[in-house]
Amino acid sequence: MHFETTAIHAANHPDEATGAIAPPLHLSTTYERTADGGMPHGFAYVRDGNPTQSRLEEALAAIDAAESALVFASGMAAASAALQVLPAGSHVLIADDSYYGVRNVAEQFFGQWQLAVDFVAMHDLDAVRRAIQPETKLLWTESPSNPLLRICDLRALADVAHEHGAMLAVDGTFASPALQRPIELGADLVLHSTTKYLGGHSDVQGGSLAFRRRDAYAERVEHVRQVIGGVASPFNSWLVLRGIRTLSARMRVHCQNARAIAAFLEAHPRVEVVHYPGLASHPGHEIAKRQMSEFGGMLSFGMKGGREEAIAVVERVKLFTRATSLGAIESLLEHRASSEGPGSRTPQNLLRMSVGLEHPDDLIADLEQALNRH
Ligand SMILES: Cc1ncc(COP(=O)(O)O)c(C=O)c1O
Repeated sequence: MHFETTAIHAANHPDEATGAIAPPLHLSTTYERTADGGMPHGFAYVRDGNPTQSRLEEALAAIDAAESALVFASGMAAASAALQVLPAGSHVLIADDSYYGVRNVAEQFFGQWQLAVDFVAMHDLDAVRRAIQPETKLLWTESPSNPLLRICDLRALADVAHEHGAMLAVDGTFASPALQRPIELGADLVLHSTTKYLGGHSDVQGGSLAFRRRDAYAERVEHVRQVIGGVASPFNSWLVLRGIRTLSARMRVHCQNARAIAAFLEAHPRVEVVHYPGLASHPGHEIAKRQMSEFGGMLSFGMKGGREEAIAVVERVKLFTRATSLGAIESLLEHRASSEGPGSRTPQNLLRMSVGLEHPDDLIADLEQALNRH
Protein backbone atom coordinates (compact mmCIF):
# COMPACT_ATOMS: atom_id res chain seq x y z
CA MET A 1 0.00 0.00 0.00
CA HIS A 2 1.20 3.54 -0.71
CA PHE A 3 2.24 5.78 2.17
CA GLU A 4 -0.60 8.24 1.53
CA THR A 5 -3.17 5.48 1.98
CA THR A 6 -1.53 3.99 5.07
CA ALA A 7 -1.35 7.42 6.71
CA ILE A 8 -5.11 7.82 6.29
CA HIS A 9 -6.25 4.31 7.13
CA ALA A 10 -3.86 3.00 9.81
CA ALA A 11 -5.81 2.59 13.07
CA ASN A 12 -8.69 4.53 11.52
CA HIS A 13 -11.68 2.29 12.08
CA PRO A 14 -15.07 3.75 13.07
CA ASP A 15 -15.66 3.80 16.83
CA GLU A 16 -17.21 0.44 17.88
CA ALA A 17 -19.58 2.04 20.41
CA THR A 18 -21.03 4.87 18.27
CA GLY A 19 -19.93 4.46 14.66
CA ALA A 20 -18.16 7.85 14.85
CA ILE A 21 -15.75 8.29 11.95
CA ALA A 22 -13.44 10.68 13.78
CA PRO A 23 -11.58 8.86 16.58
CA PRO A 24 -12.94 9.45 20.07
CA LEU A 25 -10.77 11.41 22.50
CA HIS A 26 -10.63 9.45 25.75
CA LEU A 27 -9.58 11.85 28.49
CA SER A 28 -10.31 9.44 31.33
CA THR A 29 -7.36 8.98 33.64
CA THR A 30 -8.68 5.72 35.10
CA TYR A 31 -10.61 2.68 33.86
CA GLU A 32 -13.04 0.35 35.59
CA ARG A 33 -11.45 -2.78 36.96
CA THR A 34 -12.76 -6.04 38.35
CA ALA A 35 -12.91 -6.61 42.10
CA ASP A 36 -9.65 -8.51 42.02
CA GLY A 37 -7.83 -5.84 39.92
CA GLY A 38 -8.40 -7.32 36.46
CA MET A 39 -8.62 -5.04 33.39
CA PRO A 40 -11.70 -6.17 31.40
CA HIS A 41 -11.15 -3.43 28.80
CA GLY A 42 -7.35 -3.69 28.70
CA PHE A 43 -6.71 -0.34 30.39
CA ALA A 44 -6.15 0.63 34.03
CA TYR A 45 -4.50 4.03 34.37
CA VAL A 46 -3.65 6.78 31.89
CA ARG A 47 0.13 6.72 32.45
CA ASP A 48 0.20 3.00 31.63
CA GLY A 49 -1.84 3.32 28.45
CA ASN A 50 -5.16 4.59 27.08
CA PRO A 51 -7.23 3.99 23.94
CA THR A 52 -6.35 7.30 22.22
CA GLN A 53 -2.65 6.68 22.73
CA SER A 54 -2.97 3.08 21.53
CA ARG A 55 -4.55 4.27 18.27
CA LEU A 56 -1.75 6.74 17.72
CA GLU A 57 0.92 4.13 18.44
CA GLU A 58 -0.68 1.71 16.00
CA ALA A 59 -0.74 4.42 13.30
CA LEU A 60 2.85 5.47 14.00
CA ALA A 61 4.15 1.90 13.77
CA ALA A 62 2.33 1.47 10.45
CA ILE A 63 3.65 4.66 8.84
CA ASP A 64 7.24 3.95 9.92
CA ALA A 65 7.14 0.27 8.89
CA ALA A 66 7.85 -0.66 12.50
CA GLU A 67 6.71 -3.55 14.68
CA SER A 68 5.70 -1.20 17.49
CA ALA A 69 5.78 2.43 18.58
CA LEU A 70 5.63 4.36 21.85
CA VAL A 71 4.59 7.97 22.35
CA PHE A 72 6.01 10.43 24.84
CA ALA A 73 5.35 13.90 26.23
CA SER A 74 8.02 15.42 23.95
CA GLY A 75 10.70 14.46 21.49
CA MET A 76 13.28 14.88 24.25
CA ALA A 77 11.35 12.58 26.62
CA ALA A 78 11.40 9.96 23.86
CA ALA A 79 15.11 10.43 23.12
CA SER A 80 16.02 10.33 26.81
CA ALA A 81 14.06 7.13 27.43
CA ALA A 82 15.78 5.44 24.46
CA LEU A 83 19.21 6.38 25.81
CA GLN A 84 18.52 5.88 29.50
CA VAL A 85 17.75 2.18 29.16
CA LEU A 86 21.14 1.32 27.68
CA PRO A 87 23.13 -0.90 30.05
CA ALA A 88 25.59 0.91 32.32
CA GLY A 89 29.04 0.90 30.71
CA SER A 90 27.67 1.28 27.16
CA HIS A 91 29.34 3.59 24.68
CA VAL A 92 27.16 5.69 22.34
CA LEU A 93 28.15 7.44 19.13
CA ILE A 94 26.13 10.58 18.43
CA ALA A 95 26.18 12.55 15.18
CA ASP A 96 28.20 15.74 15.68
CA ASP A 97 25.48 17.69 13.89
CA SER A 98 22.38 16.65 15.75
CA TYR A 99 19.66 18.46 17.65
CA TYR A 100 21.47 20.27 20.47
CA GLY A 101 19.03 18.89 23.06
CA VAL A 102 20.39 15.38 22.49
CA ARG A 103 23.93 16.68 22.99
CA ASN A 104 22.71 18.29 26.25
CA VAL A 105 21.35 14.95 27.48
CA ALA A 106 24.69 13.28 26.75
CA GLU A 107 26.74 16.03 28.37
CA GLN A 108 24.54 16.51 31.42
CA PHE A 109 23.26 12.99 32.19
CA PHE A 110 25.45 10.31 30.64
CA GLY A 111 27.85 10.48 33.61
CA GLN A 112 25.02 9.63 36.03
CA TRP A 113 23.73 6.90 33.72
CA GLN A 114 27.26 5.49 33.35
CA LEU A 115 27.25 5.88 29.58
CA ALA A 116 30.23 7.04 27.51
CA VAL A 117 29.80 9.14 24.37
CA ASP A 118 31.74 10.33 21.35
CA PHE A 119 30.43 12.77 18.77
CA VAL A 120 31.27 11.81 15.22
CA ALA A 121 30.57 13.01 11.66
CA MET A 122 28.03 10.32 10.73
CA HIS A 123 28.23 11.15 7.01
CA ASP A 124 31.88 9.96 7.12
CA LEU A 125 31.70 6.16 7.37
CA ASP A 126 35.44 5.79 7.96
CA ALA A 127 35.21 8.20 10.89
CA VAL A 128 32.31 6.15 12.26
CA ARG A 129 34.25 2.88 11.92
CA ARG A 130 37.26 4.43 13.70
CA ALA A 131 35.08 5.70 16.56
CA ILE A 132 33.30 2.40 17.27
CA GLN A 133 34.49 0.60 20.40
CA PRO A 134 33.75 -2.90 21.71
CA GLU A 135 31.27 -1.31 24.19
CA THR A 136 29.44 0.70 21.49
CA LYS A 137 25.78 -0.24 21.78
CA LEU A 138 24.09 2.53 19.82
CA LEU A 139 24.74 4.87 16.89
CA TRP A 140 22.47 7.93 17.10
CA THR A 141 22.11 9.96 13.96
CA GLU A 142 19.90 12.47 12.19
CA SER A 143 19.31 12.68 8.46
CA PRO A 144 18.74 15.39 7.35
CA SER A 145 20.49 16.83 10.40
CA ASN A 146 19.64 19.87 12.47
CA PRO A 147 20.70 22.55 11.62
CA LEU A 148 23.18 21.80 8.79
CA LEU A 149 20.92 19.43 6.79
CA ARG A 150 23.69 16.85 6.50
CA ILE A 151 22.72 13.57 4.93
CA CYS A 152 24.14 10.26 6.08
CA ASP A 153 23.81 6.97 4.31
CA LEU A 154 21.37 5.18 6.61
CA ARG A 155 21.68 1.77 4.97
CA ALA A 156 25.47 1.84 5.20
CA LEU A 157 25.35 3.09 8.80
CA ALA A 158 22.93 0.31 9.76
CA ASP A 159 25.36 -2.23 8.27
CA VAL A 160 28.31 -0.75 10.18
CA ALA A 161 26.31 -0.71 13.44
CA HIS A 162 25.14 -4.30 13.00
CA GLU A 163 28.64 -5.58 12.07
CA HIS A 164 29.69 -4.36 15.52
CA GLY A 165 26.64 -5.62 17.43
CA ALA A 166 25.24 -2.10 17.90
CA MET A 167 21.84 -0.60 17.04
CA LEU A 168 21.19 2.32 14.72
CA ALA A 169 18.79 5.00 15.97
CA VAL A 170 17.67 7.70 13.54
CA ASP A 171 16.07 11.00 14.47
CA GLY A 172 13.77 11.34 11.47
CA THR A 173 12.05 14.55 12.60
CA PHE A 174 13.16 16.69 9.63
CA ALA A 175 12.04 14.19 6.98
CA SER A 176 8.98 12.67 8.68
CA PRO A 177 7.88 9.16 7.67
CA ALA A 178 6.24 10.61 4.55
CA LEU A 179 9.68 11.14 2.96
CA GLN A 180 11.94 8.62 4.65
CA ARG A 181 11.42 5.42 6.59
CA PRO A 182 14.72 4.48 8.26
CA ILE A 183 13.52 1.05 9.40
CA GLU A 184 13.10 0.05 5.74
CA LEU A 185 16.77 1.05 5.33
CA GLY A 186 17.95 -1.12 8.23
CA ALA A 187 17.63 1.17 11.28
CA ASP A 188 16.50 -0.34 14.58
CA LEU A 189 14.86 2.71 16.11
CA VAL A 190 13.30 5.92 14.80
CA LEU A 191 12.65 9.05 16.82
CA HIS A 192 10.22 11.78 15.85
CA SER A 193 9.55 14.98 17.64
CA THR A 194 5.83 14.81 16.84
CA THR A 195 5.77 18.48 17.87
CA LYS A 196 6.92 19.12 14.28
CA TYR A 197 5.56 17.70 10.99
CA LEU A 198 3.43 14.97 12.51
CA GLY A 199 1.45 17.48 14.58
CA GLY A 200 1.91 20.03 11.83
CA HIS A 201 0.17 23.09 13.31
CA SER A 202 2.47 24.42 16.09
CA ASP A 203 -0.09 23.42 18.70
CA VAL A 204 1.03 20.12 20.19
CA GLN A 205 4.14 18.77 21.88
CA GLY A 206 5.06 15.12 21.64
CA GLY A 207 7.64 12.52 20.76
CA SER A 208 7.61 8.99 19.42
CA LEU A 209 9.88 5.99 19.09
CA ALA A 210 9.27 3.35 16.44
CA PHE A 211 10.97 -0.01 16.94
CA ARG A 212 12.05 -2.46 14.23
CA ARG A 213 11.32 -5.26 16.68
CA ARG A 214 9.14 -5.37 19.73
CA ASP A 215 12.05 -6.89 21.64
CA ALA A 216 13.51 -6.70 25.16
CA TYR A 217 14.97 -3.26 24.40
CA ALA A 218 11.55 -1.90 23.35
CA GLU A 219 10.05 -3.37 26.51
CA ARG A 220 12.67 -1.67 28.69
CA VAL A 221 11.85 1.67 27.04
CA GLU A 222 8.15 1.13 27.72
CA HIS A 223 8.94 0.25 31.33
CA VAL A 224 10.95 3.47 31.77
CA ARG A 225 8.09 5.48 30.30
CA GLN A 226 5.56 3.91 32.61
CA VAL A 227 7.65 4.27 35.77
CA ILE A 228 9.21 7.68 35.09
CA GLY A 229 6.07 8.98 33.44
CA GLY A 230 7.12 10.91 30.34
CA VAL A 231 4.04 9.69 28.46
CA ALA A 232 1.95 11.69 25.95
CA SER A 233 -1.38 13.04 27.19
CA PRO A 234 -4.56 11.71 25.50
CA PHE A 235 -5.34 15.13 24.00
CA ASN A 236 -1.85 15.50 22.56
CA SER A 237 -2.06 11.95 21.22
CA TRP A 238 -5.35 12.84 19.54
CA LEU A 239 -3.87 15.94 17.90
CA VAL A 240 -0.85 14.05 16.56
CA LEU A 241 -3.13 11.32 15.21
CA ARG A 242 -5.15 13.98 13.41
CA GLY A 243 -1.92 15.47 12.03
CA ILE A 244 -0.84 12.11 10.57
CA ARG A 245 -3.96 12.00 8.40
CA THR A 246 -2.89 15.10 6.43
CA LEU A 247 0.87 14.54 6.63
CA SER A 248 1.52 13.44 3.05
CA ALA A 249 -0.54 16.27 1.54
CA ARG A 250 1.21 18.86 3.71
CA MET A 251 4.67 17.44 3.03
CA ARG A 252 4.13 17.73 -0.71
CA VAL A 253 3.64 21.50 -0.41
CA HIS A 254 6.41 21.95 2.17
CA CYS A 255 8.83 20.22 -0.23
CA GLN A 256 7.68 22.12 -3.31
CA ASN A 257 8.03 25.48 -1.52
CA ALA A 258 11.40 24.61 0.00
CA ARG A 259 12.80 23.61 -3.40
CA ALA A 260 11.78 26.98 -4.88
CA ILE A 261 13.23 28.92 -1.95
CA ALA A 262 16.48 26.93 -1.97
CA ALA A 263 16.95 27.69 -5.66
CA PHE A 264 16.23 31.39 -5.06
CA LEU A 265 18.70 31.59 -2.16
CA GLU A 266 21.42 29.68 -4.00
CA ALA A 267 21.32 32.25 -6.81
CA HIS A 268 21.37 35.24 -4.44
CA PRO A 269 24.69 37.17 -4.31
CA ARG A 270 24.46 37.87 -0.57
CA VAL A 271 24.07 34.22 0.38
CA GLU A 272 27.29 32.29 1.01
CA VAL A 273 25.90 28.76 1.16
CA VAL A 274 22.54 26.98 1.11
CA HIS A 275 22.11 23.68 2.92
CA TYR A 276 19.25 21.83 1.25
CA PRO A 277 19.58 18.18 0.18
CA GLY A 278 17.43 18.80 -2.89
CA LEU A 279 20.12 21.00 -4.46
CA ALA A 280 22.51 19.22 -6.83
CA SER A 281 25.32 21.15 -5.07
CA HIS A 282 24.53 19.50 -1.71
CA PRO A 283 27.23 16.90 -0.86
CA GLY A 284 24.57 14.41 0.24
CA HIS A 285 22.24 14.96 -2.72
CA GLU A 286 22.78 11.54 -4.34
CA ILE A 287 22.31 9.67 -1.08
CA ALA A 288 19.22 11.75 -0.26
CA LYS A 289 17.80 10.85 -3.68
CA ARG A 290 18.22 7.16 -2.85
CA GLN A 291 16.78 7.18 0.65
CA MET A 292 14.17 9.96 0.59
CA SER A 293 11.17 10.32 -1.70
CA GLU A 294 11.53 14.13 -1.54
CA PHE A 295 13.91 16.52 0.19
CA GLY A 296 11.81 18.12 2.89
CA GLY A 297 10.66 21.52 4.07
CA MET A 298 13.72 22.46 6.15
CA LEU A 299 16.75 24.37 4.96
CA SER A 300 19.47 26.54 6.38
CA PHE A 301 21.74 29.09 4.76
CA GLY A 302 24.83 31.08 5.62
CA MET A 303 24.96 34.82 4.93
CA LYS A 304 28.02 36.57 3.55
CA GLY A 305 29.16 39.11 6.14
CA GLY A 306 28.63 36.95 9.23
CA ARG A 307 26.38 37.22 12.25
CA GLU A 308 25.35 40.84 11.80
CA GLU A 309 24.15 40.31 8.23
CA ALA A 310 22.28 37.16 9.23
CA ILE A 311 20.48 38.89 12.10
CA ALA A 312 19.59 41.82 9.81
CA VAL A 313 17.72 39.42 7.51
CA VAL A 314 15.73 37.98 10.42
CA GLU A 315 14.91 41.53 11.51
CA ARG A 316 13.59 42.50 8.09
CA VAL A 317 11.32 39.59 7.17
CA LYS A 318 7.61 40.39 7.34
CA LEU A 319 5.85 37.20 6.35
CA PHE A 320 8.22 34.73 7.98
CA THR A 321 7.70 34.56 11.72
CA ARG A 322 10.79 34.97 13.89
CA ALA A 323 10.53 31.78 15.94
CA THR A 324 12.21 28.47 16.60
CA SER A 325 10.66 25.03 15.96
CA LEU A 326 9.57 23.68 12.60
CA GLY A 327 7.23 21.54 10.61
CA ALA A 328 4.02 23.56 10.76
CA ILE A 329 1.83 25.44 8.33
CA GLU A 330 3.52 28.85 8.79
CA SER A 331 7.06 29.66 7.66
CA LEU A 332 9.59 30.37 10.41
CA LEU A 333 13.05 31.92 10.33
CA GLU A 334 15.62 32.04 13.10
CA HIS A 335 19.23 32.92 13.79
CA ARG A 336 20.02 29.41 14.90
CA ALA A 337 23.06 30.07 17.14
CA SER A 338 21.00 32.62 19.15
CA SER A 339 18.16 30.10 19.57
CA GLU A 340 20.58 27.42 20.75
CA GLY A 341 22.15 29.82 23.25
CA PRO A 342 25.56 29.80 24.94
CA GLY A 343 27.72 26.87 23.90
CA SER A 344 26.11 26.62 20.46
CA ARG A 345 28.44 25.18 17.83
CA THR A 346 26.31 26.47 14.96
CA PRO A 347 28.01 28.96 12.58
CA GLN A 348 27.13 32.55 13.51
CA ASN A 349 26.07 33.42 9.97
CA LEU A 350 23.54 30.56 9.76
CA LEU A 351 19.79 31.08 9.45
CA ARG A 352 17.44 28.12 9.77
CA MET A 353 14.16 28.12 7.94
CA SER A 354 11.07 25.98 8.29
CA VAL A 355 9.18 26.47 5.04
CA GLY A 356 5.43 26.55 5.51
CA LEU A 357 2.45 26.14 3.23
CA GLU A 358 2.07 29.74 2.02
CA HIS A 359 2.40 30.52 -1.70
CA PRO A 360 6.12 30.28 -2.58
CA ASP A 361 6.06 33.54 -4.56
CA ASP A 362 5.00 35.44 -1.44
CA LEU A 363 7.72 33.82 0.62
CA ILE A 364 10.37 34.57 -2.01
CA ALA A 365 9.19 38.18 -2.31
CA ASP A 366 9.56 38.57 1.45
CA LEU A 367 13.07 37.10 1.38
CA GLU A 368 13.99 39.29 -1.56
CA GLN A 369 13.12 42.50 0.28
CA ALA A 370 14.83 41.23 3.46
CA LEU A 371 18.04 40.29 1.64
CA ASN A 372 18.26 43.36 -0.56
CA ARG A 373 18.64 45.89 2.21
CA HIS A 374 21.60 47.71 0.70
C1 LIG B 1 15.51 17.12 15.09
C2 LIG B 1 14.88 17.26 16.43
N1 LIG B 1 14.87 16.22 17.26
C3 LIG B 1 14.30 16.29 18.49
C4 LIG B 1 13.74 17.48 18.94
C5 LIG B 1 13.15 17.54 20.33
O1 LIG B 1 11.77 17.53 20.28
P1 LIG B 1 10.80 18.23 21.39
O2 LIG B 1 11.03 19.71 21.27
O3 LIG B 1 9.44 17.76 20.99
O4 LIG B 1 11.24 17.72 22.71
C6 LIG B 1 13.73 18.59 18.11
C7 LIG B 1 13.15 19.86 18.57
O5 LIG B 1 13.30 20.88 17.96
C8 LIG B 1 14.32 18.49 16.82
O6 LIG B 1 14.36 19.53 15.98
